[in-house]
Amino acid sequence: MARKIVVTSGKGGVGKTTVCANLGVYLSRLGFRVVLLDVDIGLNNLDVIMGLERQVIFDITDVVAGKCRVRQALVQDPTYPSLYLLPSSHTYASSKITGEHIKNVIDIIDHSFDYILIDCPAGVEAGFNRAVFPANEALIVVTPHLSSIRDADKVVGLLSEYDIESKGLVINRMRGDLLLSGEMMNIESIVKAMAIPLLGVIPDDDSVGKMSSDGRIMTDGESARAFTLLSENIHNGSKKIYDCTYKYRGLMGYLKRNIKKYV
Ligand SMILES: Nc1ncnc2c1ncn2[C@@H]1O[C@H](COP(=O)(O)OP(=O)(O)OP(=O)(O)O)[C@@H](O)[C@H]1O
Ligand SMILES: [Mg+2]
Repeated sequence: MARKIVVTSGKGGVGKTTVCANLGVYLSRLGFRVVLLDVDIGLNNLDVIMGLERQVIFDITDVVAGKCRVRQALVQDPTYPSLYLLPSSHTYASSKITGEHIKNVIDIIDHSFDYILIDCPAGVEAGFNRAVFPANEALIVVTPHLSSIRDADKVVGLLSEYDIESKGLVINRMRGDLLLSGEMMNIESIVKAMAIPLLGVIPDDDSVGKMSSDGRIMTDGESARAFTLLSENIHNGSKKIYDCTYKYRGLMGYLKRNIKKYV
């Protein structure tokens, strides 16, 4: 049976889809069979981030409506053959889809995969229920900002109404330079406020949002090590956290920090 992990946050734009897509890539690089499931109906973008937009023929709403089988809707990633996308619809027409519908779809592929990562929409309404209902684990993504942490804390409360067996925290867009200068909320305070185990810290890294020339997710840059550690922590329960401050330490680091401040 697959581990079914919903990636959620409450607040929009904190990096749920980014974390979901990268985790999919890094877990498949570790050799696992992974499905990325986009349930952000009407505002789908996992297919775009994965560079698979043009390969989409059917989506989850077609599967639920019985227009195709799940396997017909799954899009295989050309670079990582054990990674698949189950896309969402780009129209709201079928927004009556519920968490139960999604769970029925997942049940069909559950035995064929190691991980099913569910990209949750922002907010805590129908889309949240649709994404969380079929999951048994949750990754809560926050950025080091109070508004994000407050929303995520509400989400953690709501998760207690579902069958979520374990929760883990991912702090995204951490700035090592601002951490060292004390201008950004530190990791300990965030973990204390959230009161759930920390699984990863992802640096704010320009290469995260970039695509290679053929539309593929980039697997280099500072974030690559952070996503590798996050995938390993999720898979084997290790607790290795990426240190975003390392490149800002020492004399060279001091210079980098100050250059970053003034450019
Ligand atoms: N670690 C990072 N470093 C730099 N940019 C990032 C990072 N994580 C996410 N981003 C950028 O932030 C923006 C929002 O990310 P993303 O779409 O993943 O957020 P989201 O939480 O899924 O948003 P929504 O709530 O709208 O679904 C994107 O432009 C993405 O490239
Ligand atoms: Mg998103």
